[in-house]
Amino acid sequence: MRGLTNKRVFITGAASGIGRATAERFYAEGSNLVLIDMPTLEQAELASLFKDRMTYIQGDVTSAETQAKIQAEVDKGIDVLVNNAGITRDSTLLKMTDDQWDQVIAVNLTAIFKLTRMAATKMKAEGKGGVILNAASVVAHYGNFGQVNYSATKAGVVAMTKTLSKELGKDQIRINAVAPGFIKTPMVAKMPEKVVAMMEEKCPMKRMGAPEEIAAAYAFLASDDAKYINGTTLNVDGGTILG
Ligand SMILES: NC(=O)c1ccc[n+]([C@@H]2O[C@H](COP(=O)([O-])OP(=O)(O)OC[C@H]3O[C@@H](n4cnc5c(N)ncnc54)[C@H](O)[C@@H]3O)[C@@H](O)[C@H]2O)c1
Repeated sequence: MRGLTNKRVFITGAASGIGRATAERFYAEGSNLVLIDMPTLEQAELASLFKDRMTYIQGDVTSAETQAKIQAEVDKGIDVLVNNAGITRDSTLLKMTDDQWDQVIAVNLTAIFKLTRMAATKMKAEGKGGVILNAASVVAHYGNFGQVNYSATKAGVVAMTKTLSKELGKDQIRINAVAPGFIKTPMVAKMPEKVVAMMEEKCPMKRMGAPEEIAAAYAFLASDDAKYINGTTLNVDGGTILG
């Protein structure tokens, strides 16, 4: 990919699944990483992989303390922000608690708003442009049983991405989202086997995606090869969205 070498790339939720694969991909492209996640660095097992070009911020993206640590790193410079951290707290509507609703909104939507505002403020001040990438999901487009909270946040991410592309475009700050289909990560490992089998069957390619296949989309959208792509949501789902 063109234009990723020596770029300062922030990735939330980098200790697991898609975030981890995305960190590996940007590292392979020669980027300098600022990784954010909740486990300690030792638990996250990231140190040996990226030690020479990585800063790790341990914390919860919804907490003011972690946001202050991220701000301090953003102040040193930021070229790319990947808002990847996301959670599920599934339940059907009548059983869903306020806490389940609030937690998912806080991580999947409000933290993205706050980190994006932080990044865009710095990018605009520096005048060199930048790239912001958001984790959406195919459920933003077609909904999903038991995920009223999660699907609402992912649809919110799609709308935020469109709106902010209009606001930030004049400063050459591009913002795009990736909508993964069903990807083999710890998040999906929590799902019942028969749901996973049904999802695989629904995909024209009859398989789940790999985290590396989403990481490749993030790397492409962040690169100069995607210089005129702005405000879009790229489905990376093996065609699942076609129904
Ligand atoms: N796996 C899929 O099938 C799939 C499909 C569509 C969208 N997505 C989205 O892709 C993103 C990554 O998903 P994944 O499957 O790799 O999940 P995952 O559960 O494997 O990894 C998510 C990571 O985010 C971190 N995280 C969660 N809450 C956090 C917080 N408050 N602060 C800091 N870090 C936090 C977790 O610790 C974890 O390391 C999510 O936004 C998810 O909604 C995943």
